[in-house]
Amino acid sequence: MPGPLKMPRRGSFALWTLVVLLQPALVPSQLAGYLLNPCLEVIPNKTFRCMGLNVSGVPAEVPNTTQNLDLSFSNLKSLGSNYFSSVPELQILDLTRCQLHTIEDNSFKDLHKLSTLILTANSLQYRGTAAFYGLTSLKKLVLVETNITSLTDLPIGHLHTLQELNLGHNNIASLKLPKYFTNLTSLRHLSFLSNKITYISKGDLDALREANRLNLTLVLSLNNIKYIQPGSFAKIHLGELVLRSSFENFNVMHTSLQGLTGLQVTRLIVGEFSNSQRLVDFQSGLLSGLCQVQMQEFVLICFRGFENNTDTLFNCIGNVSSIRLVDLQLEEVSEVPMFSQVKQLECKKCKFKEVPAVKLSLFKELRVLRITKSKHLNSFQQKFESLSNLEVIDLSENRLTFTGCCSPQFHKCPNLKHLNLSFNSDISVTGDFTNVKDLLYLDLQHTKLLGPGSYPVFLSLQKLIYLDISYTRTLVKSQCTFCGLNSLQVLKMAGNSFENNKLANNFKNLSHLHTLDISSCKLVQVDPSTFDALSELKELNISNNKLLSFDPVVYKPLRALTALDFSNNQLSVLLESALEILPDSLVQLDISQNLFECSCVYLNFLKWIKEKQELLQNKELMICHTPASMNNVSLSSFDLSSCHLDASTVSFSVITLLAVVVFLFLIYKYYFQLYYSLVLLSGCKHSAERGDTYDAFVIHSSKDQEWVIKELVEPLEGGTPPFQLCLYYRDFLPGIPIVTNIIQEGFLSSRNVIAVISTNFLESKWCSFEFDIAQSWQLVEGKAGIIMIVLEEVNKALLRQRLGLSRYLKRNTYLEWKNKEISRHIFWRQLTGVLLEGKKWNHEAVKLM
Ligand SMILES: *[C@@H]1O[C@H](CO)[C@@H](O)[C@H](O)[C@H]1NC(C)=O
Ligand SMILES: *[C@@H]1O[C@H](CO)[C@@H](O)[C@H](O)[C@H]1NC(C)=O
Ligand SMILES: *[C@@H]1O[C@H](CO)[C@@H](O)[C@H](O)[C@H]1NC(C)=O
Ligand SMILES: *[C@@H]1O[C@H](CO)[C@@H](O)[C@H](O)[C@H]1NC(C)=O
Ligand SMILES: *[C@@H]1O[C@H](CO)[C@@H](O)[C@H](O)[C@H]1NC(C)=O
Ligand SMILES: *[C@@H]1O[C@H](CO)[C@@H](O)[C@H](O)[C@H]1NC(C)=O
Ligand SMILES: *[C@@H]1O[C@H](CO)[C@@H](O)[C@H](O)[C@H]1NC(C)=O
Ligand SMILES: *[C@@H]1O[C@H](CO)[C@@H](O)[C@H](O)[C@H]1NC(C)=O
Ligand SMILES: *[C@@H]1O[C@H](CO)[C@@H](O)[C@H](O)[C@H]1NC(C)=O
Ligand SMILES: *[C@@H]1O[C@H](CO)[C@@H](O)[C@H](O)[C@H]1NC(C)=O
Ligand SMILES: *[C@@H]1O[C@H](CO)[C@@H](O)[C@H](O)[C@H]1NC(C)=O
Ligand SMILES: *[C@@H]1O[C@H](CO)[C@@H](O)[C@H](O)[C@H]1NC(C)=O
Repeated sequence: MPGPLKMPRRGSFALWTLVVLLQPALVPSQLAGYLLNPCLEVIPNKTFRCMGLNVSGVPAEVPNTTQNLDLSFSNLKSLGSNYFSSVPELQILDLTRCQLHTIEDNSFKDLHKLSTLILTANSLQYRGTAAFYGLTSLKKLVLVETNITSLTDLPIGHLHTLQELNLGHNNIASLKLPKYFTNLTSLRHLSFLSNKITYISKGDLDALREANRLNLTLVLSLNNIKYIQPGSFAKIHLGELVLRSSFENFNVMHTSLQGLTGLQVTRLIVGEFSNSQRLVDFQSGLLSGLCQVQMQEFVLICFRGFENNTDTLFNCIGNVSSIRLVDLQLEEVSEVPMFSQVKQLECKKCKFKEVPAVKLSLFKELRVLRITKSKHLNSFQQKFESLSNLEVIDLSENRLTFTGCCSPQFHKCPNLKHLNLSFNSDISVTGDFTNVKDLLYLDLQHTKLLGPGSYPVFLSLQKLIYLDISYTRTLVKSQCTFCGLNSLQVLKMAGNSFENNKLANNFKNLSHLHTLDISSCKLVQVDPSTFDALSELKELNISNNKLLSFDPVVYKPLRALTALDFSNNQLSVLLESALEILPDSLVQLDISQNLFECSCVYLNFLKWIKEKQELLQNKELMICHTPASMNNVSLSSFDLSSCHLDASTVSFSVITLLAVVVFLFLIYKYYFQLYYSLVLLSGCKHSAERGDTYDAFVIHSSKDQEWVIKELVEPLEGGTPPFQLCLYYRDFLPGIPIVTNIIQEGFLSSRNVIAVISTNFLESKWCSFEFDIAQSWQLVEGKAGIIMIVLEEVNKALLRQRLGLSRYLKRNTYLEWKNKEISRHIFWRQLTGVLLEGKKWNHEAVKLM
């Protein structure tokens, strides 16, 4: 692993030099002035980039508030004392390739706050002994490619705060650390990458021993080490030692590693760089020197040629707790030492074709196993066996294709908690998880899956808290797809699809879910009860779908939501009812990239947008879609005032419209009453003029017409004396509204009203209406009496309710018709008696009698 090196920028240097050199020749002088002074204000008052200057001193336009100054590729040549006094706030100063050859005493004197000084690629010929005075906060000093040949005269002994010293790409030949290194008690990273170190001798690192540093990273890569004297590293504690491409050949490496005897190191990195390989093949015994090194992690990187013999690979590292084998083109694991203590094993970019489960099962202490990024790895036939401590298996980013996931592969691995099979080819999941039923994390993303979606494959994973099946070409058909996942907290399934592009109660029992990602699932519709169980859900990502609306009923159960991503759907507005159900806990809402309608009709929504700027994410992508005139206008810059006039007009018209509608409705509803009142009024005026043409106006249900004709009309009109009855079907004038007829022909022209009351009568609205008119007419005019003839057994309660008080008024007559001779007789006497009261006799009639 390369440390955070400042690599020389050779390619860019040539280009820049060319540009700088050619500028005066190519551009007119005015422009040249501009181009030669290109100070770019990256962050206002704080960060300036003034590259390629041809001036001495800090450019005048850089203010004294500047904290980060990049003067790289400028032609500064030499730094004099108090050179940077105009920028005392500096924290980062980059002087890369400034053609510096001289740094005089106190050049940086004023930079008490400087933490990073980069002097890469300057051929320093002279550095004053007080060159770095004043840098009391310096943490990182980069002296890459500065023509340093020896550490002895490097004037940095007083930089107590220094944490990182990068001396890469120089000509340092000896690792002998001068005494002043004992002063650098904060040093954590010391790089001699690509120097000329050939021998490391006893005593070279004494300064480190005295400081007893526990966590220093020492980089010796790309040197040409020929020999490490045994004892050089004895009793040295290091955080990390990096030896990549440090040795010329197998023999040198083999003997040099012996020289590490006695070293205690947290991580040892040995190997090559992929672009600079000196050792081609791994040979047996290569790492035998490491038996005397105490380390926690061993990294072997970029070795090639393991075909023949890896039997000795683990000989001296079998008890290291963590081993990483990176880019080794390892085709197989051969000999594994007995009783190995390896707890973590990683093989990245190896050349396995088959997961070597049988061999790896010999690492009995294994807790974490990772085999990743191996593009030849496609088969998983072998079983892991009896790895009782194994907790994590990461087989991501290979080309695995296998069926029967995921129980048979893990025999007696009762502690397996994490299983990562993401970014592989094809895996068929059967639903058998018996051997791994305690899984907590299962990651299958970006692997084509067979099984999930069609039937409840996860049924036995009752403890699982994390499931990622994003982009697995899963089509969720079964409503029980996630059944059994009763502990699930995180479900990621972006980039899949649901049957009919509809979410329908798919998350029934996931009541502990707090993160749900269903983005990019082609969703068109969400059923109302879908989220009912998700009362603990905190994050919902439903972006990149085709949802047209945000239905409050659907999202209301999500009372704990803190982040909702609804971006990239087809929403036109969030209605007030939707805004109301957004829970108070919500702190992030992304509704960008929807098809918003920016019309004053949705003024409240647009106002809300302005008020909720803190809540809303990606505001710049919230853009009006309609009307066309508003296209590309940002929602937050929508001019609300343009709506105010409109709003009042709109509300006025709405109110007017409402009033008209209500008025029309009332007219429609009370048409008869109104009309009746009008006729009544006109009737009052004329009543005196009208005679009593009829003795009685008969109101009855048309269904009782037969009875009326036979039992009422014929006997009364044909009897002595004859009575004149008004019957609507006979006496009403055609062409005149029925109500007018009732009033004028019926009530106004009759002395009495006969109501033939039957079940039919009580059921008929029309009869009720007529009866009501008769009642009110009676009250208004004090005129016609009402004769109620009750025909048969009718519902007494209904009768009482319908007839009301009328029945008890003295003027009125209440008769019951009974089909018996004696009763009829009494009935007729009573009826004629009533009708005779006040009858006017005309002479002809009297004569006839
Ligand atoms: C930068 O500094 C100038 C002068 O001191 C000041 O007027 C301006 O407001 C500052 N700008 C910012 C962004 O702080
Ligand atoms: C820099 O400026 C000096 C004079 O100030 C001039 O002689 C020199 O040619 C310039 N160099 C470049 C690269 O422009
Ligand atoms: C920066 O310069 C301004 C005047 O331009 C001065 O008032 C201020 O004190 C200076 N700040 C520092 C830290 O020197
Ligand atoms: C490096 O320094 C040596 C003197 O120590 C000098 O002779 C040589 O020219 C310098 N190299 C460069 C590229 O400046
Ligand atoms: C080391 O630090 C001490 C105390 O700060 C100082 O006196 C001494 O000069 C430093 N040594 C060097 C070589 O700078
Ligand atoms: C040692 O340093 C590395 C980074 O350089 C850091 O990640 C690690 O936590 C440190 N370890 C200790 C024990 O300080
Ligand atoms: C590896 O084995 C092959 C034959 O299997 C042989 O030709 C080759 O020389 C061997 N290489 C080494 C480095 O032993
Ligand atoms: C590893 O440790 C075991 C016991 O802890 C011991 O038997 C074995 O020899 C050790 N192996 C190596 C290579 O040090
Ligand atoms: C599984 O591996 C992939 C790729 O290495 C990684 O991005 C992902 O975070 C891992 N999943 C889990 C749950 O650690
Ligand atoms: C739903 O979850 C509860 C516990 O959270 C469990 O008892 C019940 O069996 C589950 N129902 C189904 C259908 O999985
Ligand atoms: C939601 O998912 C999309 C892609 O599927 C992603 O780009 C976005 O970052 C996610 N949103 C959040 C808030 O994580
Ligand atoms: C809106 O923006 C898109 C892309 O930025 C552009 O293609 C389109 O012409 C713009 N429309 C209007 C009306 O400005």
